[in-house]
Amino acid sequence: MSVSPTTDRPNSVRPLSVPAGFLWGASTAAHQIEGNNTASDWWHLETTPGSHVVEPSGDAADSYHRWAEDMDILVDLGLTDYRFSIEWARIEPTEGRFSNAELAHYRRMVDGAIERGLRPVVTLHHFTVPQWFAARGGWTAPGAVELFVRYVERTAPVIGTGVSHVCTINEPNMVAMFGAIASLGAEAFREAGLPLPDAATTEVLVEAHHAARAAIKAIDPQIQVGWTIANQVYQALPGAEAVTAEYSWPREDVFLVAARDDDWVGVQSYTRTRVGTDGPLHPEPGVELTLSGYEFYPQAVGEAARHTWEVTEHTPVIVTENGLSVTDDTRRVAYLHGALDSLERAMADGVDIRGYLHWSLLDNYEWGSYAPTFGLVAVDRETFERHPKPSAHELGRIAQGGAFPRP
Ligand code: BGC
Repeated sequence: MSVSPTTDRPNSVRPLSVPAGFLWGASTAAHQIEGNNTASDWWHLETTPGSHVVEPSGDAADSYHRWAEDMDILVDLGLTDYRFSIEWARIEPTEGRFSNAELAHYRRMVDGAIERGLRPVVTLHHFTVPQWFAARGGWTAPGAVELFVRYVERTAPVIGTGVSHVCTINEPNMVAMFGAIASLGAEAFREAGLPLPDAATTEVLVEAHHAARAAIKAIDPQIQVGWTIANQVYQALPGAEAVTAEYSWPREDVFLVAARDDDWVGVQSYTRTRVGTDGPLHPEPGVELTLSGYEFYPQAVGEAARHTWEVTEHTPVIVTENGLSVTDDTRRVAYLHGALDSLERAMADGVDIRGYLHWSLLDNYEWGSYAPTFGLVAVDRETFERHPKPSAHELGRIAQGGAFPRP
């Protein structure tokens, strides 16, 4: 599919035209915002001397207690959808012991969203597992899929009514890389590109996703089930097409193929990765970088949506994460405009895109550090006071049909 040059539409300031029911909102993940997720493997890592995790999550944004405030902010901004995750480690803190109190907590969140007119998009697994699950060998230990499915079945009181969209597993492609990242430490990120996902973990995660999907459909066949894939927008330099396809398959495409029969697939996109004949390349010298070291490249999300649409053979797309870590919020506003422009172009070319959920609602715990600020809303680390940034208002305004400039 061709991307029409920007010069096609000069001085264009207009609203984004989206299909009925389009999801407009922001995303979070339990461990990154709740605080004190003490029964999880991440908490264990954060508190184990010598582990690769430097800064602990601690109280995070205290959203375990302040979720209602978070939802009020979304509503006040004019957004209609909230993607959040529920925490397996709280629901099943020791093997086989399920906490009715924690299930009731998450049900209150679902009800709280619905009462406010927000549609909840619920993720069942976002990077963290109970420490007991990790200690028995994680995803590749015998019985892992059955244990995950048992947890999924037990979430019925949370997702059984009023939840239209459920994500089984967030970024399984990253989950399959966690082993390599833990053993390589900082080295894993010094090289261009990402480590190779573990093949056995990949296979189990695909099986777990399909089994969880069946378990959710058994709870209510109306629930729209999908999973969300980290998309690196691999761009082949001339002559590197075969290398790029080979590189992309285990890191991304194998997970997209597994979403072919899903109701929707989540696109999670932040930047692009150029690939030469020798493999992935660092951003070119002089390009604008975010606090995460990613190239500022807002049109990535449209390209990610196109790639996802093609590889899944037309599974409807929801952008479940897209954003950047910056201190200058005007760059977030510019990124937002560029990202939405790229989605508009993809939709014009026939890609079925059903929602845009920004990452993230809050400045939060970025897996080992609070330094990269991805939030539409700043959080005071001492008082937990929330302060929406101009970009939060801009997204709400656009969601309400406001016009915005195309880059
Ligand atoms: C993850 C988030 C993370 C974000 C920014 C995604 O990989 O799903 O948990 O905070 O990217 O790095």
